[in-house]
Amino acid sequence: MRVAVIGVGHVGLVTAATLAHAGHEVAGLDHDYDKIETIVAGRMPFFEPDLAGLVAEQLRSGRLRFTHDPAEAMAGAEFAFICVGTPSRPDGEANLLAIEKAARTAAQHAASDFILVQKSTVPVSTGDRLQLLIGEISQHNFSIVSNPEFLREGSAVADSLNPTRILVGADDEAVHARMRDLYAPFLKEGVSYFATDIKTAELAKHACNAFLALKISYANALARICDVSGADVASIADIMGSDPRIGRAFLNAGLGYGGFCFPKDIAAFKSIASSLGYEFSLLDEVVKINEEALQAAFAKIKDVLWNLEDKRVALFGLSFKPGTDDVRDSPALNLARELISAGVTVSGYDPEAGPAAAAQVDGLEVCNDPYEAAERADCIVICTEWPEFTELDWVRIKGICTRPLILDGRNLFTSEAAQVAGFTYIPTGRPSVNL
Ligand code: UGA
Repeated sequence: MRVAVIGVGHVGLVTAATLAHAGHEVAGLDHDYDKIETIVAGRMPFFEPDLAGLVAEQLRSGRLRFTHDPAEAMAGAEFAFICVGTPSRPDGEANLLAIEKAARTAAQHAASDFILVQKSTVPVSTGDRLQLLIGEISQHNFSIVSNPEFLREGSAVADSLNPTRILVGADDEAVHARMRDLYAPFLKEGVSYFATDIKTAELAKHACNAFLALKISYANALARICDVSGADVASIADIMGSDPRIGRAFLNAGLGYGGFCFPKDIAAFKSIASSLGYEFSLLDEVVKINEEALQAAFAKIKDVLWNLEDKRVALFGLSFKPGTDDVRDSPALNLARELISAGVTVSGYDPEAGPAAAAQVDGLEVCNDPYEAAERADCIVICTEWPEFTELDWVRIKGICTRPLILDGRNLFTSEAAQVAGFTYIPTGRPSVNL
């Protein structure tokens, strides 16, 4: 089947490559000339494990190509996937300008009947808008589909090649049948395929992301109580998680959630709910607790270092989560900004996100290796739980920092491991170990 993918960012590029891998003929389209040239030259515009290899393999197969010419991308396309960003407006509402432009592009350049597959995260009823918009422009028959994406950065390729669920919202049985054919190569045993109406699919995506954020904030609220009472939030999460009605995933307390999706999706969900007459105040608490998680870490640093001026803090991990170089809304960078404005000299190290972080935070000393970052540090803060941090030579680090102190913002270490290396260890919502 022939597919055009409009927007080749984190979702679009992975979608294009995996659909080609499944045997479809895919054209990736982006108005960003440099991005297309970068991909065609065999480089990825961002770091995502296994993506470069998959894209190269599919380019070689001839099933995948990239262009900045909309007519070329849409020529013969039976499906036009929209995979563009939906950032927040200042009041939290989702900015859907890129969606409108992408839909116009598809409609203006379609050479035959097509199905417009909306993959970007959008507020409920966006499908109605697209129906009206394309109806005014298109010379061809078209149908609208909502097909929210559930991939996670850092494991996007694996998530897309082996999805646990596929959600397709359409208002016509024949369109559902076409979508099922398109996704047939992915429908292995154990994959849930949900065929719904468009509005249910749109709303389900916001419901999922907001609920995941809610779980994280619940764990962070517990961590605040554990910090004071001496109970262990990780054990509580294990105990809660062993109940299949609750589940262990997304109960890790830490510096809070970040990234391009959760913060803007919660704001957009709140905004659309409000415009439909429902004040979703529960989501205000989720956001408030998330901000408190970062404040709690800052307060701990201030407490142990006393006067912050003239102190050095090293941040280990700058991306919003491990496995990516994405620093959008990264808790690590928000912490860096707070520390710098309080007079702290802040160094940072990240296996992938160093250059992106340096471009975002004035005054942050981004280092090429963790030992350089740790030099003369009064405190090392684990901001992102990159697994390789546990493999570092912590005895060497103890020798080069000013004070052997780890504040573990992601509960990456065990207190025993920190103790063995000779560090005072302050985890999140777990008892500290003072040497
Ligand atoms: C999230 C969803 O998990 C995906 O299903 C969804 O497709 C995607 O948004 C999207 O809407 O595009 P992603 O933003 O890549 O994926 O990252 P997550 O793995 O969900 O992590 C989000 C944030 O929560 C990170 O900052 C992470 O460190 C934090 N987190 C996660 C915690 O603080 N605690 C946890 O227990 C889990």
